[in-house]
Amino acid sequence: MRVLYEGKAKVLYEIEGEPDKCLVHFKDTATAFDATKKAQIEGKGVINNTLSSLLFRLLEEKGIRTHFIRQVSDREMLVWRAKRYELEVVVRNITAGSLCKRLGLKEGQKLKRPLVELFYKRDDLHDPLVCKEHVLLLGLASRGEVNSMVAIAKRVNRVLKSFFKDRGLLLVDFKLEFGLLPDGTLAVIDEISPDTCRLWDIKTGEKLDKDRFRFDLGDLMEGYREVLRRLQGG
Ligand code: TMP
Ligand code: ASP
Repeated sequence: MRVLYEGKAKVLYEIEGEPDKCLVHFKDTATAFDATKKAQIEGKGVINNTLSSLLFRLLEEKGIRTHFIRQVSDREMLVWRAKRYELEVVVRNITAGSLCKRLGLKEGQKLKRPLVELFYKRDDLHDPLVCKEHVLLLGLASRGEVNSMVAIAKRVNRVLKSFFKDRGLLLVDFKLEFGLLPDGTLAVIDEISPDTCRLWDIKTGEKLDKDRFRFDLGDLMEGYREVLRRLQGG
């Protein structure tokens, strides 16, 4: 199979005779801080594929379009081939990460309402925060498209927040990517996993997401396995 694109955590393959679809392969690589920190973590790809598949299925059930078609193996999902926007859409419920750094806030404060932030997906610029006017000037998306992405991101937040809460997890923040499907629909693409969400145990506040790797807080796989266990209801 021909590689369409290789990122830090996934490889995208073309499928012969199926120009509208592609295969996402989840690798075991973990990176942080523009890949200045890097490790191979055995089994991470399998968990992220399983969790992403489960969460994309949930969004589809709730009427939110995604690129997901089905999980085809432990490391692979079949998806619609999408034209990706060079944007990262972050939704925050609780202060953490770059928000705290940028604005001098204490971690763990509940925000009055969900905050949606846009980042320009450019590794060489360290994915800078941009506002809607920047997005329009750079031609990254139209006004209508940005407005739809923000609205969809807020809907995704409502669905995920309540799903995680029922399983004892606090959805602190998460990142979404968007693309246009072959039929022209705006859809959530990429992955939704503990690599792209901050998830804390509701009772203890223990961090179960990629911050364990970013800040050496403990075994990454232990956290991811706990998330998987809770989402699969085991
Ligand atoms: P941040 O606080 O570092 O801006 O991260 C916000 C959310 O986005 C957090 O849940 C982690 C996720 N994220 C990614 O998925 N990819 C990235 O490259 C970064 C920096 C954050
Ligand atoms: N994955 C990103 C990188 O490697 C950053 C992160 O998730 O912290 O740069």
